Amino acid sequence: MTPDLMEAGAERAARAGSIHYASGSTESGGREAGFGRIATPGEVDITHGRILYLEDVSVSFDGFKAINKLSLDIAPGELRCIIGPNGAGKTTMMDIITGKTRPDSGTVFFGSTIDLLRHREADIAQLGIGRKFQKPTVFEHLTVFENLELALKTNKGVRASMLFKLDSAQSDRLAEVLETIHLAESVSRLAGNLSHGQKQWLEIGMLLMQDPKLLLLDEPVAGMTDEETARTAELFLTLKGKHSLMVVEHDMSFIRTISEIVTVLCDGSVLAQGTLDEVQADERVIEVYLGR
Ligand SMILES: Nc1ncnc2c1ncn2[C@@H]1O[C@H](COP(=O)(O)OP(=O)(O)OP(=O)(O)O)[C@@H](O)[C@H]1O
Ligand SMILES: [Mg+2]
Repeated sequence: MTPDLMEAGAERAARAGSIHYASGSTESGGREAGFGRIATPGEVDITHGRILYLEDVSVSFDGFKAINKLSLDIAPGELRCIIGPNGAGKTTMMDIITGKTRPDSGTVFFGSTIDLLRHREADIAQLGIGRKFQKPTVFEHLTVFENLELALKTNKGVRASMLFKLDSAQSDRLAEVLETIHLAESVSRLAGNLSHGQKQWLEIGMLLMQDPKLLLLDEPVAGMTDEETARTAELFLTLKGKHSLMVVEHDMSFIRTISEIVTVLCDGSVLAQGTLDEVQADERVIEVYLGR
């Protein structure tokens, strides 16, 4: 990630207090601003200051609109929090970004040039979008080290995997990731013997091995102890700037610790957006989510 990216994210964060978008519009000017230009292979074009851009996205399941004209964008290096009631469409939005679910209509871009609706799920991961599901999915019978090593082998054939050896850059990366996720002292432990929180960090570490540009994290602190939750907040704050993060959570004290801009989803579209204090003071948000 270049300093430019970090600057864009920081700038955006600094302005967070004053930004309010109505549902259906975004700050970046949309397709007219140049989304859909020719792509440079292997690069994410962030000329327009957006790493992720959704416009007017809708999807129905058996006639039920799970996502309804959803428009949202994220700056490079930003840590965006998404909150909203059960069934608001938060996980479905991540399914759409990662190619698991195809929307019926709308636009989804990674940077200015990569049309995510033209890519399959496996390709989207390769493009640099990592996704963490709620339940940890580490390999319990392998050590922490082996799990991280394995993360580099994905999408290689069986033979290539067997012959695979870490080069020095990859070894350095692995050591760096171990420090970041606070598991350096547990490198030889079996993943199955880790606590729930440590398994979650290990899985985040496995995503980090691929150096994703954008990380999508769905309810990352669910089931964690207070101490694990606090450590996870620290971890996300260190990842911010180096990566862009989209974090879905119901835990408001966690959101308070990490948030810049908070987006409230409801009935498949953006109900409100701003700082946590701003959205918590919004009558509509209180009505549908936070309760009186
Ligand atoms: N594949 C599917 N088929 C049918 N309905 C679906 C499918 N995926 C999601 N839905 C429905 O879409 C709506 C949005 O679900 P989603 O899981 O995205 O909500 P959410 O905001 O993640 O909620 P939660 O906070 O409970 O995780 C729900 O009513 C859900 O039942
Ligand atoms: Mg969900």
